[in-house]
Amino acid sequence: MHVDLIIHNISKLYTPGKTPKRGKEMNNVTVLENVFIAVKDGKIHEIKTGEFREYVGMDTMVVDAKGYIALPGFIDSHTHLVHGGSREHEFAQKLAGVPYLDILKQGGGILSTVAQTRNATKEELYKKAYRSLNEMLKLGVTTLEAKSGYGLNQETELKQLEVGALLNENHVIDIHQTYLGAHAYPLEFKDNHKGYIASIKEDMSIVKEKELARFVDVFCEDSVFNVEETKELLEHAKTLGFECKIHADEIVSLGGASIAVDLNAISADHLMAISDEDIDKMGTSNTVANLLPSTSFYLNKEYANARKLMDANAIVSISSDYNPGSSPSENFQFVMQLAANKLRMTPYEVLTASTINAAAALGIDKQTGSLHIHKDADIVLLDVPNLEYTMYHFGVNHVSSVFKHGRHVVKDKQIQ
Ligand code: NIG
Ligand code: FE
Repeated sequence: MHVDLIIHNISKLYTPGKTPKRGKEMNNVTVLENVFIAVKDGKIHEIKTGEFREYVGMDTMVVDAKGYIALPGFIDSHTHLVHGGSREHEFAQKLAGVPYLDILKQGGGILSTVAQTRNATKEELYKKAYRSLNEMLKLGVTTLEAKSGYGLNQETELKQLEVGALLNENHVIDIHQTYLGAHAYPLEFKDNHKGYIASIKEDMSIVKEKELARFVDVFCEDSVFNVEETKELLEHAKTLGFECKIHADEIVSLGGASIAVDLNAISADHLMAISDEDIDKMGTSNTVANLLPSTSFYLNKEYANARKLMDANAIVSISSDYNPGSSPSENFQFVMQLAANKLRMTPYEVLTASTINAAAALGIDKQTGSLHIHKDADIVLLDVPNLEYTMYHFGVNHVSSVFKHGRHVVKDKQIQ
């Protein structure tokens, strides 16, 4: 049978299992040598060694992988993609050691980005995010999650989500959206938390009606949303048919991970301050432990205890948390390098965490996240001798080619 695309001369193809993996199983990566991949209708049709001529017809595109390695496209399952402006004006304060939450309490931090996002036009937000998406794509990201949360009022939250939806239509990266109205209390509701919670609930219904997001997230943190407020909001989200995520135990151990498990949330994210008891609880649940090491790097904080989470049998994923305040970088490969070096994950565990387990954090593991027949042909080629090298030689982009749904969208490091 003739196919649409053949990628041949792959020295090593690495794929995690077809389904999400927990604990020790995260090390189970299959390595196939000297293979070709046949793609039809945007899906993987065959992965084989040997002769590929029988698959080549008049319209088949044949790509020589030049002995590079092949991996599934990376999935960045936690980003704050769409936002206005930047926060370098807070850099000196950060370097002087002013805590992240203190900057927020002074009306800066997230609230500074809220002001800039409210003031930005849709076009400005779109252009800025589009540039970031191009960077991410060149670094090997083929799917990502994008949160709102810099509007904190109906108009701007919807503006962010509508821009995200348009980007999803126009950019090759698939974007899965999350409504994060509960990212902080806006100044106008500073002394009326109940009023803001009621307005978030109303806005959830509108987001649902407009089909702008699949997930609802809450920043459950000291001086932001407490445990009761988080529960109330996410229980309401569930009644509307949303799946839940929580920014949990990032700075202070409030027990966000525990509520995430109780609510059967799809992921609990950050977990730098999670208690040992809640690590065990994560290990017995299907809630993905989504770790964000570049946030620890940028905020000069503890790294999450990935090893304990994996020992407890948790499903661990990693993400960039790309945002203007705590992780201003689109570089997903740096996140993988930090996961290896700072979270002490093996390169195989890092691969599983960046692909199939990240897909689980978005509920898309049946169609993508690994290189298996019938799954989306989301594939990256890296100019390295082996997977380990990708994490050893840090700070540079090793991805040479990116295929999204079987389309060759990055060639020789250039977007096509
Ligand atoms: O995931 N922690 C809350 N939200 C983001 C930071 C957002 C910001 O500082 O603008 C995070 O780290
Ligand atoms: Fe975040």
